[in-house]
Amino acid sequence: MAESPHLSPSGAVPAIELRGLVKDFSIGLQGMKLRAVDQLDLRVEAGQVFGLLGPNGSGKSTTIKIVLGLLAPTAGTATIFGVPSGQIAARHDVGYLPESPYFYRHLTGRELVEFYARICGLAGATLAQRVADVIALVGLRDSANRRVGTYSKGMLQRIGLAQALVHDPRLVILDEPTAGVDPVGAAAIAEIILQLKARGKTVLITSHLLGQIEDICDRVAILDHGKLLLEGAVRDLVGRADRQALVLEKMPETELAELRAWLAARGRTIEAIEQPRERLDRIFLERVKK
Ligand SMILES: Nc1ncnc2c1ncn2[C@@H]1O[C@H](COP(=O)(O)OP(=O)(O)OP(=O)(O)O)[C@@H](O)[C@H]1O
Ligand SMILES: [Mg+2]
Repeated sequence: MAESPHLSPSGAVPAIELRGLVKDFSIGLQGMKLRAVDQLDLRVEAGQVFGLLGPNGSGKSTTIKIVLGLLAPTAGTATIFGVPSGQIAARHDVGYLPESPYFYRHLTGRELVEFYARICGLAGATLAQRVADVIALVGLRDSANRRVGTYSKGMLQRIGLAQALVHDPRLVILDEPTAGVDPVGAAAIAEIILQLKARGKTVLITSHLLGQIEDICDRVAILDHGKLLLEGAVRDLVGRADRQALVLEKMPETELAELRAWLAARGRTIEAIEQPRERLDRIFLERVKK
């Protein structure tokens, strides 16, 4: 029997809750064990976009597989909207993009998404409409009748995202959705995630694109060797409440000296003078979209 879920201050059941989660894998012959997840406590509130970060091998995908009930934990509990992950009912309203999706290569993109839609219980006109909608959403309308075996890496990620979203799930778990996707595709995926959030969905995402995570996530957790290093609101982690940056037209040295003197008279100094930079991804997107 699972313990009752801890309620958030608003009284809502968390979308995901992990308590004391441990996962040991057997490696080697002498009963050697590798601890992939180590005493992990984590809550993802409903309606949040939550980033699970960490270096390669830190336990992100293992944690996700336990949340989805695809792996049994060695110790601890995982729940989805209060339902233990081991129960099939917990997965009912969840969409999942695995980190290395294996798809039936002989199916077309559309057939593949239809296949997953049927597994999720969709049928008839609703199925056809949802399949068309998600294929358009991920930008694969022109390639939907091609075999998945002919897709590029980024196209496979997009069709994977389409299958994860086809039943309009309440919780979407995306394990590196932007791996192998070009900057235009990555920006499109970020946009889809923000649309999901706007519609009240919860998204758990792993990615090594920290700039994008910063742009789209409400909260992040950083894992290392299966342990939680840090968890918090992105705004609190990256914002420096005690500092502010002023951006001015470039001014001559003489005026800058006057400004320094003016500030010095008030006991203040300029800590840094930098030339603002345009972000490379923005330049790329502007050019490529033309
Ligand atoms: N089935 C398995 N058997 C044995 N060890 C495993 C298994 N799956 C994962 N591991 C190990 O568990 C650790 C965590 O792996 P995991 O895939 O969860 O990392 P990750 O954070 O998702 O990494 P990446 O960023 O590379 O995707 C690694 O040391 C990995 O080798
Ligand atoms: Mg992984």
